[in-house]
Amino acid sequence: MLVPIALVLGLLPLHARASPQNFPPGGHGPWGHGSKWNVPNLKSVVFFGDSYTDNSRYAYFTSHGGNAPPIGYNNPTNYDASDGGRIWATYVGQYTGANIYDYAVRGAVCSNNLTPRTAVSGSLSFPYPSVDQYEVPAFIADSEYRVGGRPFLNIPADNTVYTIWIGTKSGDLTSYVDCVYNQFSRLYQQGARKFVLMNLAPLNLAPLYALPSVGNNGTYANATETSYRMLETVKTVNAIYDYRTPFQAVIANDFPGAQWAVYNVHDLLVDIYNNPSQYLNGSAPLNVTGFIAQCTSSNPCAGLTSPDSYMWYNNLHPSEQTDRVIARNFVDVIKGNSKWATYWP
Ligand SMILES: *[C@@H]1O[C@H](CO)[C@@H](O)[C@H](O)[C@H]1NC(C)=O
Ligand SMILES: *[C@@H]1O[C@H](CO)[C@@H](O)[C@H](O)[C@H]1NC(C)=O
Ligand SMILES: *[C@@H]1O[C@H](CO)[C@@H](O)[C@H](O)[C@H]1NC(C)=O
Ligand SMILES: *[C@@H]1O[C@H](CO)[C@@H](O)[C@H](O)[C@H]1NC(C)=O
Repeated sequence: MLVPIALVLGLLPLHARASPQNFPPGGHGPWGHGSKWNVPNLKSVVFFGDSYTDNSRYAYFTSHGGNAPPIGYNNPTNYDASDGGRIWATYVGQYTGANIYDYAVRGAVCSNNLTPRTAVSGSLSFPYPSVDQYEVPAFIADSEYRVGGRPFLNIPADNTVYTIWIGTKSGDLTSYVDCVYNQFSRLYQQGARKFVLMNLAPLNLAPLYALPSVGNNGTYANATETSYRMLETVKTVNAIYDYRTPFQAVIANDFPGAQWAVYNVHDLLVDIYNNPSQYLNGSAPLNVTGFIAQCTSSNPCAGLTSPDSYMWYNNLHPSEQTDRVIARNFVDVIKGNSKWATYWP
């Protein structure tokens, strides 16, 4: 598939390609800037994030008194993740055959120094494991761990992609964004060279933060105001990502030899919202404002039938079909030909 596309591009006159003067942001599309992005023989994908990406780590904490999994933990596939089925990271593994190393934990923020949160599960209460304090250190420990004389992780620099998708439970957006790039920097120091930064989802469209006119399911005093504030926050952070990534990758050259893709999962999700028939495939009427898990005390989170008709699993989390779409497009991002990605340098 890739070879014919590359051949066709090779035939395009140079001026037909995006020029560096579009910078920043720019370079959208399959051949942005004649990007250097290239991942030959994808071997592994390493994931960091929150409930949108968590497999079984949070469940490990809650079933082990709040303690972290040991070094060298084989994070099992969760068939009842936050999307009601398998999480998108698992689908990336299925679609590519790559090793999936998923360090995401439900409830995580970027750093507990910025926004400490406490997880409560039954009688248990413990600080939510964050990307900064738990996830990246757990990865670093695993990357140095050996089993039977062999490295536990199979992460050759050229063939391994690292991705962070972390939400914005943060008061101070600048510190939050600093934290995200700091995590990439730690990964870089550990040898990582291919980074996919996933921008913020349109949380203002999730039923929890939606406008009352489209079925808000939150308990905020003024749901209209909350929804608009969420929209502004998401847009601000995503604009910072668009400008700061080329700054760090190209101008400041803080990551020599590294390749970056900013995956505009925000616009992909907005596209699902606006054009559901291109993405959702259940037999019930397609639904981007409601959600599958309707929980009552007598009927705990029983799903509606035809889950693939829904964009949202519950009032905050994408459905499994949405996650398949996110995964399918992630695969295109790492192939270097996604219209939802901007590649740097
Ligand atoms: C949110 O949805 C759940 C499940 O249908 C429902 O029980 C609850 O009353 C809703 N809450 C609000 C504030 O709309
Ligand atoms: C809710 O917030 C909106 C936007 O700030 C404002 O126009 C509206 O008056 C508020 N509604 C209430 C009931 O306070
Ligand atoms: C919808 O499409 C996905 C692939 O994206 C497939 O796995 C799933 O089975 C389909 N669902 C239905 C109800 O056909
Ligand atoms: C979407 O699903 C919800 C259930 O979460 C339902 O209340 C709503 O009427 C549906 N909307 C449409 C447009 O079908």
